[in-house]
Amino acid sequence: KDPRINGIKTTIRVVPDFPKPGIMFQDITPLFLEPKAFKDSVDIFIERYQGKNISVVAGIEARGFIFGPSIALAIGAKFVPLRKPKKLPGEVISEEYILEYGRDCLEMHVGAVEPGERALVVDDLIATGGTLCAAMNLLERVGAEVVECACVIELPDLKGRERLNGKPLYVLVEAH
Ligand code: PRP
Ligand code: MG
Repeated sequence: KDPRINGIKTTIRVVPDFPKPGIMFQDITPLFLEPKAFKDSVDIFIERYQGKNISVVAGIEARGFIFGPSIALAIGAKFVPLRKPKKLPGEVISEEYILEYGRDCLEMHVGAVEPGERALVVDDLIATGGTLCAAMNLLERVGAEVVECACVIELPDLKGRERLNGKPLYVLVEAH
């Protein structure tokens, strides 16, 4: 196991009952206060994806925007934001998904990703997997190939990995 992982893991703060009672919120903001651990987290992703012929990094709003662009710049890929509804000004394609309570939606600009592109999907955390699944659907609908999904944290008890239809998922930290 990568010796840098433990330093990353110790920065993650668990906040009980946020944003609702019963939710153990995984707060990654302390990671950004530790330049060494923050850089390590991005470096591990860069080392993994460099030379893999990835042409696009798709970052999921909001916290996928914190990690995705640094990875994209370092591996020479473009960055495409996958946004919550009604944020993007151009023509979009949309993908709805189910949350624990209610529904949400991700949108991507038409033309941002072309058929045949090799994509990496980046977010901070996988819980039920619904968000990553919607992101992959957007990319696949425009003919891109999703090479892998990458997150900082996985909540394995929620079995989100099983919803990814066999698509590889790479995570730095498992949280229980
Ligand atoms: C959180 C987290 C992931 C998603 C994971 O985002 O940042 O994007 O939930 O959940 P899932 O695997 O069950 O789909 P959230 O929807 O709270 O929005 P935010 O990132 O904009 O704060
Ligand atoms: Mg999110």
